[in-house]
Amino acid sequence: MNDYNPFPQDLSSLHDKISDNPFKNYTIRDYQEIGKKYDLFLSEASVAYQKGKSVLHNISLFLKPGEILGLIGGSGAGKSTCMRVMTGQIKPPQLTHGFAVTAGYRAVRDNLKLIHQIGYVPQLEYLSLYEQFSALDNCLFFGRNYCISKKQILKRAREILGILGFENEELLNKPVKYLSGGERKRVSIAVGLINTPKVLFLDEPTTGLDPHLRIGVLNFLLKINKEFNTTMVIVSHDLEIADYCTKVAILNFGELAGFGKPKDLVESLPSHGKMLNIHLKSYNSRIHLRKIKEIAGIRYVLNAGRNQIKLFSDEIENLNLIISQLREIGLEIEHFSLDQAVFLEYFRIKGKHIEGV
Ligand SMILES: Nc1ncnc2c1ncn2[C@@H]1O[C@H](COP(=O)(O)OP(=O)(O)O)[C@@H](O)[C@H]1O
Ligand SMILES: [Mg+2]
Repeated sequence: MNDYNPFPQDLSSLHDKISDNPFKNYTIRDYQEIGKKYDLFLSEASVAYQKGKSVLHNISLFLKPGEILGLIGGSGAGKSTCMRVMTGQIKPPQLTHGFAVTAGYRAVRDNLKLIHQIGYVPQLEYLSLYEQFSALDNCLFFGRNYCISKKQILKRAREILGILGFENEELLNKPVKYLSGGERKRVSIAVGLINTPKVLFLDEPTTGLDPHLRIGVLNFLLKINKEFNTTMVIVSHDLEIADYCTKVAILNFGELAGFGKPKDLVESLPSHGKMLNIHLKSYNSRIHLRKIKEIAGIRYVLNAGRNQIKLFSDEIENLNLIISQLREIGLEIEHFSLDQAVFLEYFRIKGKHIEGV
């Protein structure tokens, strides 16, 4: 299902080198060239935790400095595994094919260098933050792992926490256990940023937060991205993150169902994403769906609430023909409009196996 160009054009000369064993065919210089252009470069990665049981198949993704990737997929789709490959935590034989270059370094082989250039915000901060420590003390504790002086860490921690909305001394010095869910998440983000990483990985940073807090966290991430040009990988099953990302990747059972700019993905739909939005007098998918799909050119039909459908066709410009064919199969049309699809519709078509859609 990889219907996108799997390799960036500016490195096309390197592409020819990929063969059955990419571990052998690249030179250190090649990886350096990749690392100079891309903050994240995942090439044809496949993972099997147990022999023969592949959970990630042939995933290629790339991000330039300052980009934000939304890695979207249902539970068990392989999002965390993908992130583990990018951060060098999965190596052969579990990594059965492919490689990652992250923040300028080859994952696994150059992990000691790589680790200083990345930050990680885990899904469950209650397992990673020290609850009895304050926001500042957590930053200090974790910052010490990077051989940075206490003074430098505190300066950096105050700067980041300031951007993240920790404006007063009380909040900075209160034990984390007394903070709200959204505040804790922001402390966890500050800890992930304490070593000034080039690339920040966030595993489900918005899961479990109330809608307004989710938007709040995403807005804070955008602020950080603007301030420090931090490249980000945000794992999520919330579609709203697409609005905050320069690129999105959709994982379906370990396969990449789509990768690119949200707008480009939408425009890859039939007729560049122009869809017919139809309100019907009555609609029963059991009776009508099959007949609608038989109409020439119709590619996708989405249910969109009570008696409303959205049609994608290769021949959307033949509006009148489609409408008359719908009438022929017994549908009474109340009104319709020709609209541009948004990412949600793209996702409903391509990410079929994700729950809740
Ligand atoms: N350490 C592991 N050992 C064996 N199987 C694993 C391990 N981690 C994840 N898996 C399996 O790999 C698949 C993908 O998991 P994961 O990457 O955690 O998905 P996601 O983060 O999208 O929920 C799942 O089927 C999961 O059960
Ligand atoms: Mg996960």
